[in-house]
Amino acid sequence: MEGATILMFSLLFLHKSYAAELGTISDSSFLTVEDTLVSATGVFELGFFQPGSSENRYLGIWYKQISVRTVVWVANRNHPLPDASSLVLKIGNEGILGLFYNNNIIWSSNTTRSGYNATAKLQDDGNLVVIDKNKNVMWQSFDYPTDTLLPGMKLGRDYLRSKQWRLSAWKSSDDPAPGDLTWGAETLGYPENKLKQGNLVKFRGGPWRNQVFEGVSIFSKNLTFSYDVTINKSEVSFAYYQINSPLLSRTTLNSSMHLESWAWVENSTGWRLVVAFPRSTCDTYNICNGYGTCSINMIQQSCNCLDEKRFVPKNQSGWDTADWSGGCIRRTPLECKNGSEGFMKYSNVKLPDSENTWFDMSMNLDECHKRCLNNCTCMAYANPDKTRSVCLLWFDDLLDIQVLPDGNDGPDIFVRMASSELDSEPNSKNKGGANDTTILFVVIPTVLVIGLIIATWLCYARRKKNHAKPKGGGKKLFKFTGEIFNVSKMEKEDMEQPLFSFSTIVNATGNFSLDNKLGEGGFGPVYKGVLEDGKEIAVKRLSRYSSQGLDEFKNEVICISKLQHRNLVKLLGCCIQGDEKLLIYEYMPNKSLDSFIFDKSQSVLLDWTKRFNIIKGIARGLVYLHQDSRLRIIHRDLKASNILLDQDMNPKISDFGLARSFGGNETQANTERVVGTYGYMSPEYALDGIFSIKSDVYSFGVLVLEIVSGKRNRGFIQPENENNLMGHVWMLYKEGRSLSLVDAVCVGSCHPPEVLRSIKVGLLCVQQNAGDRPNMSNVIMMLGSEGELPEPKQPSFITEKELPVVNYTSSSYTGGSVNEFTITEVDAR
Ligand SMILES: *[C@@H]1O[C@H](CO)[C@@H](O)[C@H](O)[C@H]1NC(C)=O
Ligand SMILES: *[C@@H]1O[C@H](CO)[C@@H](O)[C@H](O)[C@H]1NC(C)=O
Ligand SMILES: *[C@@H]1O[C@H](CO)[C@@H](O)[C@H](O)[C@H]1NC(C)=O
Ligand SMILES: *[C@@H]1O[C@H](CO)[C@@H](O)[C@H](O)[C@H]1NC(C)=O
Ligand SMILES: *[C@@H]1O[C@H](CO)[C@@H](O)[C@H](O)[C@H]1NC(C)=O
Ligand SMILES: *[C@@H]1O[C@H](CO)[C@@H](O)[C@H](O)[C@H]1NC(C)=O
Ligand SMILES: *[C@@H]1O[C@H](CO)[C@@H](O)[C@H](O)[C@H]1NC(C)=O
Ligand SMILES: *[C@@H]1O[C@H](CO)[C@@H](O)[C@H](O)[C@H]1NC(C)=O
Ligand SMILES: *[C@@H]1O[C@H](CO)[C@@H](O)[C@H](O)[C@H]1NC(C)=O
Repeated sequence: MEGATILMFSLLFLHKSYAAELGTISDSSFLTVEDTLVSATGVFELGFFQPGSSENRYLGIWYKQISVRTVVWVANRNHPLPDASSLVLKIGNEGILGLFYNNNIIWSSNTTRSGYNATAKLQDDGNLVVIDKNKNVMWQSFDYPTDTLLPGMKLGRDYLRSKQWRLSAWKSSDDPAPGDLTWGAETLGYPENKLKQGNLVKFRGGPWRNQVFEGVSIFSKNLTFSYDVTINKSEVSFAYYQINSPLLSRTTLNSSMHLESWAWVENSTGWRLVVAFPRSTCDTYNICNGYGTCSINMIQQSCNCLDEKRFVPKNQSGWDTADWSGGCIRRTPLECKNGSEGFMKYSNVKLPDSENTWFDMSMNLDECHKRCLNNCTCMAYANPDKTRSVCLLWFDDLLDIQVLPDGNDGPDIFVRMASSELDSEPNSKNKGGANDTTILFVVIPTVLVIGLIIATWLCYARRKKNHAKPKGGGKKLFKFTGEIFNVSKMEKEDMEQPLFSFSTIVNATGNFSLDNKLGEGGFGPVYKGVLEDGKEIAVKRLSRYSSQGLDEFKNEVICISKLQHRNLVKLLGCCIQGDEKLLIYEYMPNKSLDSFIFDKSQSVLLDWTKRFNIIKGIARGLVYLHQDSRLRIIHRDLKASNILLDQDMNPKISDFGLARSFGGNETQANTERVVGTYGYMSPEYALDGIFSIKSDVYSFGVLVLEIVSGKRNRGFIQPENENNLMGHVWMLYKEGRSLSLVDAVCVGSCHPPEVLRSIKVGLLCVQQNAGDRPNMSNVIMMLGSEGELPEPKQPSFITEKELPVVNYTSSSYTGGSVNEFTITEVDAR
């Protein structure tokens, strides 16, 4: 109700208005819910709208000629109007624009200046302005940005009016109220834009600079963009302009933390996304910490020190395990004695966080150099803006730096160093990861506001030139859904070479000879190999015709290499050559669990103690996957043939090709493709494609019952009834005869309380309702304790008739299983 008291509106004397036709609202006209106000050449329109599926009405501005309703500004973000009864927008005597609902004012232009005979007008740039009779602007919507930045709008601060211009995302597509995400200028030091969630910085645009991009070719148009930076006592602001504009463009901060830049080409049917930030983990704010830089190439990304010669990781052991929290430090510490220090120049960088900086808008680089040299706490200097003399000094460790790939026009930074370090060239090898996708970095320093298009244009241009070539060497980290993984904790030689050359593998496996074939995995044959140094490996050769695309391949590589646990199979590396995709694992001499428990001659080797150990080992591996690893990993295809055994019969979970990993708290997802194996799939997954960690718990339950009984769930035939294994177990349990389930070959060694406990835990895990199933850490506790267990509810007896139609690929793993299939593709239902 702001401003209600100061407003004097005389609605009584109003007549039905022709605001829409006049294109303005003045003291004699007003806008009702049926009207809209259109800008002079009809680009924008002001009126009432209902966002998404919301019933509420809002006053907003959108593009008039565009078929897709795209709202760029909302007046009453915080004051939804539940119905359309007597909604009126009108201008009051004081020149204040007010929105009335049942004659109550619910929103007003918050102007402090009053003026007479004011009019409100929607301009062609999308700005709603209120001007007094002398054409002075009294109020404008551009001063109150919502989630969208249009050309000509400002970000920054107006010190005279103590105002801040920044974007704030809608809460959701149904609710334009401001959420906690913002994109605006930080003005403590030299200004730059930051994307924040509350007070937490998520992404940084880089220090501002003036710039003009001419002849930028996009969608077969040549455009000119300019970035306009104003830094003076009264105002710190940034705006972008589109000089000739055959297309519409806007930048929007969306409700899931992305800044999206969109363009609309004449006659097209939808907005085209030009670029969205953050684009990758490397864009995550300060991911590599002090003096670290992040780089990516096709599938890998990593942190390196700004200069691999002059800087070292502060905590090398942490660094090796992808814990970059220490950042880097100078190899030779600074002493700050007279003449003992100088500066090292690093070119083409995204300048570090400029929050704790000092700057002068008229100091040249020489003076800047002296200024920094003479102050022991000054760590670096630079001129961020090539169009004028700006001296910018940093006083802390340099955070969030990125070294840009060649071909960029990034600024230089001069970093303070001990004199003894100044004798040779800077040694930063990590030029943004060397090739392919790295050109995306182009945008970072230049597209402060993420204007645009230039980025994509360059991107397309370069894409054509550089075909993605896999590249080896160095410590490699893998990127996946915004998380970072480290393979380097593997043994030393693998650390150097996580990517094996194809010829190495051909030699190791005797050119994939049949003699070396271990079996058929989910996506192709598995071979044994011996490396030159005598080390045994298992090589999974992904079938060229397998449905596993590059994404799934990366997925598998990334997931496994990231995960380090004694109950998980270790991935040593991978190899990509043309169509060939190979995964190199540690070799497991004892093959898989199914070749023991379901085989009469082998099963005698597994007495009860071993079986119980296997159950507990699998459970520990799963706890790690579900809870302890940095990511939440759902295996999705847990089954006996995916449990490998080492020489001491310790279980190791393998085949993560189907795993999906989640950051954060996401515990459930709807999958587009059902992937898994009959007999192990939870009902909600098999029928609805919903998977969660509880789907893995279900598979684990099945596995436990199989290990105890030595029988397969799928294909289990019981003469006296039609139950599958689970139905059979349930029947025995109900009748109090659980012990008779135990595999005959290990009855002698069996420990009844452990067996009964295992069966009960198994039954708890296969309960119909996912919510009733325990999580894996509960399972560990239940298996380890002697306390009372809850009563399981009846399991689901899912029959294959109920399942969706699927394609099969044979997946009998290391021998043994014939009637077991991995379902590779089922369309979402
Ligand atoms: C309106 O202006 C007053 C004083 O300038 C300020 O306190 C208030 O937050 C403003 N309201 C809005 C919605 O901008
Ligand atoms: C506003 O306009 C009316 C005529 O439309 C005029 O009579 C009046 O004097 C104007 N008010 C001011 C303060 O200029
Ligand atoms: C864009 O500019 C290039 C050279 O600057 C020119 O060859 C081309 O014809 C221009 N394209 C359009 C659509 O104007
Ligand atoms: C600051 O810059 C703006 C825009 O260029 C200008 O209008 C204003 O007068 C300047 N203020 C000062 C104090 O120089
Ligand atoms: C936000 O933008 C990102 C990147 O374009 C996109 O993946 C995501 O779906 C968007 N979220 C919403 C709610 O529009
Ligand atoms: C867009 O469509 C109109 C009418 O169909 C046509 O006259 C115009 O040439 C088209 N513009 C472009 C750039 O294709
Ligand atoms: C170094 O990093 C490792 C792994 O993150 C951590 O355990 C250790 O405490 C760190 N050491 C120091 C001195 O911070
Ligand atoms: C360093 O040496 C220069 C002359 O070489 C002198 O002018 C300056 O005062 C000295 N500074 C300090 C901090 O000793
Ligand atoms: C060095 O810079 C810091 C931060 O601006 C300042 O507080 C300090 O006074 C400066 N020291 C000298 C000797 O100029």
